[in-house]
Amino acid sequence: MSTLVLVFHPHLDDASRVNKRLVEEARRHADEITVVDEYAAYPDFQVDRTHEQRLVETADRLVLEFPFYWYSAPALLKQWEDAVLTSDWAYGNAHALAGKEIQVVTTTGSPADTYTPEGRHHHTMAELLSPFETMVDHIQAKWVKPFIVSGVNGLTDEELDQVAADYVKAITA
Ligand SMILES: Cc1cc2nc3c(=O)[nH]c(=O)nc-3n(C[C@H](O)[C@H](O)[C@H](O)COP(=O)(O)O)c2cc1C
Repeated sequence: MSTLVLVFHPHLDDASRVNKRLVEEARRHADEITVVDEYAAYPDFQVDRTHEQRLVETADRLVLEFPFYWYSAPALLKQWEDAVLTSDWAYGNAHALAGKEIQVVTTTGSPADTYTPEGRHHHTMAELLSPFETMVDHIQAKWVKPFIVSGVNGLTDEELDQVAADYVKAITA
């Protein structure tokens, strides 16, 4: 199975710790995983629709990876969806991604127990990720259980190594 990871992190090469480590691990498995740093490709937000559509068509599984920002994704992922998932390609008279697996990978600063009805953020991650799940349903793709790394600030280097190994298993399983 081929996995395409599109990473949407505005500071992947400098300020990132967790996504940077995950991407480093994914790149060690270049035979089955391709990683694209979308902010590096489109610093001006001018997403190349045709290029991205061809790229996505080649993969069995598309992974959308991002640090959780304001209960959602960094802005370039929204721009990517608007530019790439066009009518009569993704939905409407054609469904180019029908049956393709799509998985969200995200990392959160807040711990998992804050994403509960009783917790500080009052909503679950499933609720907050529902626009992505609904998009996947609408384009007739297959929603794969998200891989969520919560409470990243407390992670030791050893724990992060384990998370990186689990991540590679999850995105290739
Ligand atoms: C602009 C911004 C918004 C953020 N919003 C959230 C949020 O809504 N919920 C949360 O749990 N963490 C939030 N965080 C923390 C990031 O999710 C966290 O720093 C990131 O996942 C760490 O990954 P990295 O080491 O790859 O940067 C936010 C951080 C920034 C910079």
